[in-house]
Amino acid sequence: AFTPRVFSGIQPSGGLTLGNYLGAMKRFVEMQGQGFETIYCMVDLHAITVWQDPDALRRQTRELAAGYIASGIDPEKSILFNQSQVAEHAQLAWIFNCVARMGWMKRMTQWKDKAGKNQENASLGLFAYPALMAADILVYHATHVPVGEDQKQHLELTRDIATKFNHDFKTDFFPITEPVIEGAATRVMSLRDGSKKMSKSDPSDASRINMTDDADAIAQKIRKAKTDPDALPSEADGLENRPEARNLVNIFAALADQSVDDVLRDVGGKPFSEFKPMLSELAVAKLSPISSEMARLMQQPDEIDAILRKGSDRARAIAAPILKQTYDIVGI
Ligand code: ADP
Ligand code: NA
Repeated sequence: AFTPRVFSGIQPSGGLTLGNYLGAMKRFVEMQGQGFETIYCMVDLHAITVWQDPDALRRQTRELAAGYIASGIDPEKSILFNQSQVAEHAQLAWIFNCVARMGWMKRMTQWKDKAGKNQENASLGLFAYPALMAADILVYHATHVPVGEDQKQHLELTRDIATKFNHDFKTDFFPITEPVIEGAATRVMSLRDGSKKMSKSDPSDASRINMTDDADAIAQKIRKAKTDPDALPSEADGLENRPEARNLVNIFAALADQSVDDVLRDVGGKPFSEFKPMLSELAVAKLSPISSEMARLMQQPDEIDAILRKGSDRARAIAAPILKQTYDIVGI
């Protein structure tokens, strides 16, 4: 039996968004102290699969660390570290590059989306990204991975890699990891385009709420968020065919720790002009303590660096023996 162990990561490829917070970070915090060992990572090796300015990357990595801690990741309860500081991730990823099949990788929708029309000019790293992600998870024998819905396919690939490795080498060395995709906000959508997810890499800043946005920016973005002309639906009418309303109600429910039905019972029948200020007020109330704590932590880079150094030592202590055993199984 495998130790109940949670692993997840976030890319330091830009400022954190409300999507990252509700779909990932807030849930990482909730899984602390629930009978799991919790390991959380800044996945800088994933970030550089597309171009990153080195100075911006350094700043964003520290800001992400501050975001983790300010959101409630306790570096005593959880292992918090930077991916590139634990070489075992990249080492196991190479083994998995030799396990995963080209055809599996070509089917990944994130690869197709991010590479766009010009696949020939995408980095080899972007193509291999999901094998590195499998290594991130399996180098800890993680049993559970909390993620947003956009990562579901990559988690399936992780399970496929573990299954093929176990089968090829006649072993049960790697666990078949469970994705944990739960809550009202597993897919927070862009505020400007209901067909796209909210993302830190979206060129439009109005499309997302950043964790570091101030109250005015949050209120303005929510006020301008795309909606339809009707009032909010009742619980009975529901959110079917109301993508913009669904998105805003999901965000409200996740921020308030309520069910979508509870929210609709309260706000059904209200016009958006009444609901949006309620949502802004709630978002500001939840996010502003986090962003001020982030700003405070950013003034103490040495403290952050010390936390991450300690985290990477603890992470390596788990990963190194698992990598060594993997090499033994493979015959290298
Ligand atoms: P981004 O797409 O913003 O660059 P990452 O790829 O670093 O974010 O994802 C970090 C975590 O945040 C993942 O678990 C991912 O599923 C989650 N996540 C990202 N965007 C959203 C979103 N819009 N809604 C819910 N979860 C999200
Ligand atoms: Na993503």
